[in-house]
Amino acid sequence: MLDRAKRIVLVGFMGSGKTSVGKALAARLGFAFVDLDTRVEESTGKRVADVFRDEGEPAFRRHERAAASAALREERVVIAAGGGAFADPETQDILRAGAHCVYLACDLETILERVPRDGSRPLAGNRETMQALLSAREPSYRLADLTIDASRRSPDVIAEEVARTLALPAPGERAPRR
Ligand code: S3P
Repeated sequence: MLDRAKRIVLVGFMGSGKTSVGKALAARLGFAFVDLDTRVEESTGKRVADVFRDEGEPAFRRHERAAASAALREERVVIAAGGGAFADPETQDILRAGAHCVYLACDLETILERVPRDGSRPLAGNRETMQALLSAREPSYRLADLTIDASRRSPDVIAEEVARTLALPAPGERAPRR
């Protein structure tokens, strides 16, 4: 049985702050930070956009699933999952079995301000398509153990709230009794 307290996964839509909150949370806990998109780029030797273009989305999801399985074999890690990872039932099962899963809930306006239209995220579109994708994925995100408001708040403040809510001690600190 995997000890879920040794891993935290941040899930949520593109632009919800998974990477910046993940880095802040990892620093706070003395954990390593793992980005699943980076792991896919390392395993394929390609940028995410090129994996989508050359191999298609189903292949990207397979790479992402493999990266999730590998990351769950590590301990004391904060894992940032790509925006579609938790909406993929198999990847969601992998993540939920071995980690505390935290949904960074973010409003559409914040998302639109944060996500660049530079081609780096193949599924980033206009307001209507982003709204539709967010609505389609929201029920999956809500299956996380914890939902945190990530709209217009700093990564440090959000990381602090995640750590406090999950009662995770900083290095050298004792876990509070619950
Ligand atoms: C995706 C989000 C991206 C990346 C890929 C697909 C998605 O990650 O995995 O472009 O399906 O929403 P971020 O959420 O880190 O941007």
